[in-house]
Amino acid sequence: MTGAPPQVIAVDGPAASGKGTIAAAVARALGFHYLDSGALYRLVALKAARSGADVDDEAALARLAAALAVVFHDGTVALDGDDATAAIRSESVSAAASRVAVHPAVRRALIERQRAFRRPPGLVADGRDMGTVVFPDARTKVFVTASAEQRARRRHKQLIAKGISITMDGLLRDIRERDARDAGRAAAPLEPAPDAVLLDTTDLTIDEAVARVLALYRSAGAMTRADDPKA
Ligand code: CDP
Repeated sequence: MTGAPPQVIAVDGPAASGKGTIAAAVARALGFHYLDSGALYRLVALKAARSGADVDDEAALARLAAALAVVFHDGTVALDGDDATAAIRSESVSAAASRVAVHPAVRRALIERQRAFRRPPGLVADGRDMGTVVFPDARTKVFVTASAEQRARRRHKQLIAKGISITMDGLLRDIRERDARDAGRAAAPLEPAPDAVLLDTTDLTIDEAVARVLALYRSAGAMTRADDPKA
């Protein structure tokens, strides 16, 4: 007899909404594994740039995605054996990732790789389609939002801290473009799952947002037990 699959907390939302920071902190608090699904799309974009593949060549990109040699370790990621942690965060890779991510064949090529992160004792997964496509049976689904201006301010702070200089106007424009492309695509568009809880973080600190997600996860567990006739 195989037991129930490990629990999943799906944290989806638009660019720079804070979902990655929140999801990683929730995973730490619970001792769960963590999947940064956006990193996979970023890695496909980086690999495409390095190998000269066109961001519109769906078949070539799907082949790259299927063969991607990636190792995640302690908050770092290596591509083809070389550290790519910083390289995948550049604004050019961000924009290319959202172009690569429109292709259904690329998304299909990455699905099993994402599901393989679901191991005991549980998983916190962040992205755009964690609750809708990759883990539709997630116990807790959160859709993190924040105003575009607040998101641009947060991303600006992050990039400046890394020594990357960029203007707020440019960032706001990039974020709006990426949101429009992510929400407008036919394959797994950015949208809340019908059973997701919306979490607007415009006026919340990271700690407050993390506490809300943990409370949701714990109350979902209490509900499941109360609904269980054997309990
Ligand atoms: O951190 P940020 O929100 O800026 O980006 P990310 O989560 O690393 O995702 C980068 C890009 O990958 C997004 O703009 C999406 O186009 C794509 N993506 C996706 O399509 N599906 C996911 N589950 C995660 C990311």
